[in-house]
Amino acid sequence: MQDPIFGWIEAERRRQEEGLELIASENYASPAVLRALGSVLNNKYAEGLPGRRYYGGCQYVDEVERLAQQRLKILFGAEWANVQPHSGAQANAAVLLALLHPGERILSFELAHGGHLTHGSPLNISGKLYTVAHYGVHPESYLLDYDHIRDKARTFRPKLLIAGASSYPRDWDWAALRSIADEVGALLMADIAHPAGLIAARLLRDPLPYCHVVTSTTHKTLRGPRGGIIMMKKDFDNPFGEKTPKGQLKKMSSLFDSALFPGIQGGPHMHSIAAKAVAFGEALQPEFQSYAKQVIRNAQALAQALMARGYTILTGGTDNHIVLVDLRNKGITGKEAEEVLEKAGMTVNKNLIPNDPQPPLITSGIRLGTPALTTRGLTESEFQQVAEWIDQALIHRSDESRLNRIRAEIRSFLRSYPLPYEPVADQTPVPDEVPA
Ligand SMILES: Cc1ncc(COP(=O)(O)O)c(C=O)c1O
Repeated sequence: MQDPIFGWIEAERRRQEEGLELIASENYASPAVLRALGSVLNNKYAEGLPGRRYYGGCQYVDEVERLAQQRLKILFGAEWANVQPHSGAQANAAVLLALLHPGERILSFELAHGGHLTHGSPLNISGKLYTVAHYGVHPESYLLDYDHIRDKARTFRPKLLIAGASSYPRDWDWAALRSIADEVGALLMADIAHPAGLIAARLLRDPLPYCHVVTSTTHKTLRGPRGGIIMMKKDFDNPFGEKTPKGQLKKMSSLFDSALFPGIQGGPHMHSIAAKAVAFGEALQPEFQSYAKQVIRNAQALAQALMARGYTILTGGTDNHIVLVDLRNKGITGKEAEEVLEKAGMTVNKNLIPNDPQPPLITSGIRLGTPALTTRGLTESEFQQVAEWIDQALIHRSDESRLNRIRAEIRSFLRSYPLPYEPVADQTPVPDEVPA
């Protein structure tokens, strides 16, 4: 029997092939990463850690996980790493579970200014279990204001200071954050889910020497499988007095390990861990360094080209892979822009701007990102054209035939930048156009 699911997978492959992918959190994993993901490692239970499993038959997956840990530690210069989190959200939940008792205080970046749900949103377990306050960006420059963070920390006295964002186009001052954390006796966690690949390529400031713990996803700028990781530059005695059966202080690494399993996860996804190892191996190659440099150059070129067309770019540019566009002067909401651009063959996401007058499902902005199109081979000059398509689509947003023309132009342009994915062989027929 032909399963229609493979038809939909093929439809999605074509969508990815034929459209301009500008979602900042997406990328195209290599065929080698996908090969590991689709492997027999999916079948294996391996609760525990390499050499200390609760199941038999782990001799090969042990080697896989050791290699993943080893490559990750080299990539970020970490002394300790756990590669088992199923996603970024799990990595963050495990760190919070290890570091905080219910009710204890977290200070983190405001969600509406670019933070993440897992940093204490009332909708997330982090906001339900812990007491949370936020810092935000400066109301005019939209930049982080470290004096403001220090003031907040002095009054709120958090036990954990969380840094990192889903949508902040500038680099972070980790040294300043560590001095704030030290002053108020807090631990410092960095969530580098977005810029991880750029940090691994040493193009942004390195959080590891300053942060007690660093979490990340593996599928955004790092270009691996969907997944999470936890790292420490140096393991340290847990400050909570928890002891081993022999009466010694437990190391933080053991608290993070056990917060993840059995704290919040069951069996590790060994196929994902293998795919992470493949991606870390790729990120250790010199080509990844060139890729990451090009991601930033492309984002800067896109920001410039949009500003030249009268768009307001928050903070006036970018240091990383993200470009935040405030659309208020163009008389269009983020939601409308997302829909229009989709019709014209470009995928973006609507995004709140700090202190946005619009609600989260409408928004006044869009977030653009360059990791995926850079993987396809686009450089600064092609991003001039991308800006032109965005502008033309937004100007002619009520003109369906114009939007269709742009979509066709994009489709034919992208034939010169093929994706390395084979069509799904045993698919049921799929429609030419994927229904909305
Ligand atoms: C800063 C940050 N942390 C955590 C996450 C959660 O990652 P995941 O979607 O893998 O759970 C994201 C995802 O968007 C993120 O941007």
